[in-house]
This record gives sequence, C-alpha cells and structure tokens, in this order.
Amino acid sequence: MGQTNIAVYPGSFDPITNGHIDLVQRSLRIFDRIIITISTNAEKGSSLFTVEERLEMIREVFRKHGSRVQIDSFSGLLVDYTDRIDAKVIVRGLRAVSDFEYEFQMAMMNRGLKPEIETLFMMTGESYFYISSRLVKEVVSLKGDVSGLVPKNVLKRLKEKFQD
Ligand code: PNS
Repeated sequence: MGQTNIAVYPGSFDPITNGHIDLVQRSLRIFDRIIITISTNAEKGSSLFTVEERLEMIREVFRKHGSRVQIDSFSGLLVDYTDRIDAKVIVRGLRAVSDFEYEFQMAMMNRGLKPEIETLFMMTGESYFYISSRLVKEVVSLKGDVSGLVPKNVLKRLKEKFQD
C-alpha cells in the first residue's frame, strides 16, 4: 500500500456551511483523508460559537463518513500544524474573485514559511458561491431564512444563539 494522501482543510468554521461541506466532498475525490481543522488563534470573543461548539457541529455533519474525515483544532501557525500531522497539502475553497487576494497572500506566506507544503484551491460548487459564515450569521440575527445554506444541526444552533 502506498502512502495515505492527507489534506488539511483549515478555517474558522463559525459555523460550518453547506459550501464548506461541498468542498470536503470534492476533496474526498482526490485525497484519502481530509482533516478539517479549526484555528483557535482568534478565540477572543470575535466568534459566535466556541471552538468546542464548532467541533461538535462538524462532527455531527461528518459522523457517517468514518475515518476519511477527521476533525481537529489547532493553535499557532497552520504550516506547523500541517507538518506535525505529516500532511503536505492545505485545501482552500475559492468562491468569487473577491476571495482571491486574501487567499493568494495566505498561500504565499505559507509557502514562504514552509515551501514543502502546497496549497490547493478548489472552486466552490455553483450553488454555494454566495454563502459565507459571516453572512449566514448576519441573516439569522435579523431573522432571515438560511435553511438550504447550512445543515440542519447548524440551523438549529444558530436559531438558539439568536433567540431573544
Ligand atoms: O475560514 P478562514 O477564517 O478564512 O480561515 C483562515 C485560517 C484559519 C485558515 C487562517 O487564519 C490561518 O491559517 N490561521 C492560522 C495562523 C497562521 O498560520 N497564519 C499565517 C497564515 S498566512
């Protein structure tokens, strides 16, 4: 048997959306295993869900995927984490052109830090082009409907957060 092909899929996932899930599904066509990992660096009250809540929601979503999808969190540099778990590829989703500059900067910075780790960009599915965790939160906070943009368990938790 050859080496297991592992990709790291990092993000804030505050919360995970159907766009993220689509990307994981696409990545599973290419990689043997995807490690979805939440950055805990910005955990200073700026996120809606705690890291534990976010981990739980992602675990619920991928429960039936078995060992091909693993869920984790990390602090510090992404490239150090990637190295530590012996992965060589970071996967990121690209939606519209507006994502490009931020993603390009991060990919270049990460390459500068550890050239042996490659960033792979995948286009988000057409139906998910306009979804972002930020907008989902905003819409729910204003009592708008985001069913179809996030999985059911996430929708439930979002509603609980904004219940008054
Ligand atoms: O979903 P997001 O918020 O766009 O994800 C950003 C994330 C978590 C991938 C990025 O902020 C990150 O990698 N943070 C870890 C710290 C780090 O390595 N910073 C240097 C990368 S340029």
